[in-house]
Amino acid sequence: MIATAREPQSAEGLWSLKQDFPDLQIEQLDLGDSSSIAALVSTLAERPIDMLINNAGIFGRFPLVENISTQRFGTLDYEVWAEVMRVNCFGTVELTEALMPAIEASERKTVITLSSAAGSIGGHQAPAIPYTSSKTALNKAMTTIARTVKDRGVLVAIVCPGHVRTRLGLGGGEIEVDESVSGLATLIGSFTIEDSGTFRRYNGDHLVW
Ligand SMILES: NC(=O)c1ccc[n+]([C@@H]2O[C@H](COP(=O)([O-])OP(=O)(O)OC[C@H]3O[C@@H](n4cnc5c(N)ncnc54)[C@H](OP(=O)(O)O)[C@@H]3O)[C@@H](O)[C@H]2O)c1
Repeated sequence: MIATAREPQSAEGLWSLKQDFPDLQIEQLDLGDSSSIAALVSTLAERPIDMLINNAGIFGRFPLVENISTQRFGTLDYEVWAEVMRVNCFGTVELTEALMPAIEASERKTVITLSSAAGSIGGHQAPAIPYTSSKTALNKAMTTIARTVKDRGVLVAIVCPGHVRTRLGLGGGEIEVDESVSGLATLIGSFTIEDSGTFRRYNGDHLVW
């Protein structure tokens, strides 16, 4: 199992996880930086990857609530938007593209991407343009990738973890991390290739695009 962080030395959560799972390999990755993506791919040296979980994502500038105006029409900050698109969409797709040969060489051949119901055009009305549009773009890219690699036996699924009490949850959230993660683990464990290209909530519900 490989886990990444922008600053591995200070990723305390991962080091404490490593105490229980000594085989855990902790690597540096910044999705905003193509050279960091290339360095990770080179370190992994084409070793087969059964499941890529694209979890990393940002909402915008910290502190999130104080900077909410940068997300709103009328006071949009285009540097924030570009950074959010870079990490949430371009960086995630760049990593997936670079690792696809290693995923195809594995047994499970699975890509799981954490997106958000906030990126749904038909079903969600959050007013935060940079964050929501980055997830809409990510959803479109991932469904295209899903169609492209399905014949090669690669499953690409898009999931929403729910509104979770994390750093990104804007101080709110409806559920704890454990509930979201255990729902996602059950859902991911149930996936077959026929689920490729679908957009599902952590509890298994299908989400509208
Ligand atoms: N929380 C929610 O309510 C909610 C709802 C819908 C969707 N989501 C999605 O769920 C995923 C996880 O979010 P979370 O709630 O766990 O947020 P979080 O607590 O803020 O964690 C974000 C994660 O993304 C990583 N990250 C941020 N910028 C990065 C970059 N440039 N390169 C590489 N990694 C980067 C962080 O790694 P570091 O260790 O380096 O900081 C951290 O592990 C995200 O994709 C988010 O959009 C969350």
